[in-house]
Amino acid sequence: HLKIAVIGGGSSYTPELIEGFIQRYAELPVKDLYLVDIEEGREKLEIVGNLAKRMLKKANVPIQVHLTFDRREAIKDADFVTTQLRVGLLEARGRDERIPLKYNCIGQETTGAGGFAKGMRTIPVILDICKDMEELAPNAFLVNFTNPAGMVTEAVLKYSKIRTIGLCNLPIETKMQIAALMGVDVSRIDIEMVGINHLNWTTKIFVDGEDRTDEILFQASGESKFTMTNIPGFAWNQAFIQSMGSLPCGYHRYYYMKEKMLKKQLEEIDTIGSRAEIVKQVENELFELYKDPDLAIKPKQLELRGGAYYSEAALNLISSIYNNKKDVQIVNVKNNGTIPSLPNDASIEVNCVIGSDGAKPVQLTTPMNPKIRGLLQVVKAYEELAVEAAVKGDYNAALQALTIHPLVGSVDIAKPLLDEILAENKSYLPQF
Ligand code: G6P
Ligand code: MN
Ligand code: MN
Repeated sequence: HLKIAVIGGGSSYTPELIEGFIQRYAELPVKDLYLVDIEEGREKLEIVGNLAKRMLKKANVPIQVHLTFDRREAIKDADFVTTQLRVGLLEARGRDERIPLKYNCIGQETTGAGGFAKGMRTIPVILDICKDMEELAPNAFLVNFTNPAGMVTEAVLKYSKIRTIGLCNLPIETKMQIAALMGVDVSRIDIEMVGINHLNWTTKIFVDGEDRTDEILFQASGESKFTMTNIPGFAWNQAFIQSMGSLPCGYHRYYYMKEKMLKKQLEEIDTIGSRAEIVKQVENELFELYKDPDLAIKPKQLELRGGAYYSEAALNLISSIYNNKKDVQIVNVKNNGTIPSLPNDASIEVNCVIGSDGAKPVQLTTPMNPKIRGLLQVVKAYEELAVEAAVKGDYNAALQALTIHPLVGSVDIAKPLLDEILAENKSYLPQF
């Protein structure tokens, strides 16, 4: 029997997942679905859990939903454990987005100093979940959606025996955006992505098996093209994109258009607020809708969140493992030489074949070039140091990590910024 545990089950994203389970019930006959949360999140868990039950009932899908605060009960004998938790809730995210701005650095929840802070809070909790899994469900897969997903995946690969795959909706969204641009169904699009989570380049784009990369790059520079709902969509410089020869991801704007992005963040922080504050409003509205006893579908408003289509990514992955499909999906896995210029034990986000033994990276068809390699290596080095800092509470590793990050880049900024991050997150950082 198929048992799934969702850690952070009270998240507003849960209806996404439920919709995915409903659509795939024939191929993925889940018997028990455990939605786990912490006591503090009781109200949210109950509201979203009851919506989940109504959705399943309406669709006539006999998955048993269990709402619990007992993580171990949920994990015991699970086949898949998924994580969508947020340590410190949106309040902590708000601080991650605000603190770096005081130092004239990008304030973003996964990229730069904000992502660093989130990693410090999150990695110990995920490794704790892995300990429970080692004891209670050692053969289960950990499907991690919790950010910073690349760093979290790397921490699990290095410090636990649990099989894990890191997940992001950006690859699937990129494919959907290409499909929309070309006016074809997404099933006709294949892409090759190279890089790490939230820093990957689409190096090849095929429509019906035909290489159309150049043509799509030529069209990629318009306003709001190839971005995510949560990232301002400044137009790419046409000459830059074409000289790059591959499509940067939305998050690359924080690096390649740093001044413009920072200026926008500084203007918005005291007017419309941080993304966390916007998301808080969207969430409040979503939970009001979720409470309606007549609602039994995923409301459209959930698409205002940056993680739209997350269930597609999560359930395509789980179903391909369960059914040993051997199809190609873009997920976060151990490098193992796939990108020769990164360490073998680093996590990378690339095309992988998905089957019952997990995700195996596909060999790259485009050789690594310095345009990609330079930025990739420095941000990966930052991630390695940040993972070490998060696991060991190592201040020196933390200071080095922030100093080399391209969105910080100087010790005179990194040191006070780090000290403020550690002080503001003190209650979530037992390792320091
Ligand atoms: C993108 C990223 C996710 C991230 C989300 C944030 O989709 O891939 O990793 O969680 O944006 O969206 P939000 O609505 O919370 O700002
Ligand atoms: Mn089982
Ligand atoms: Mn993501």
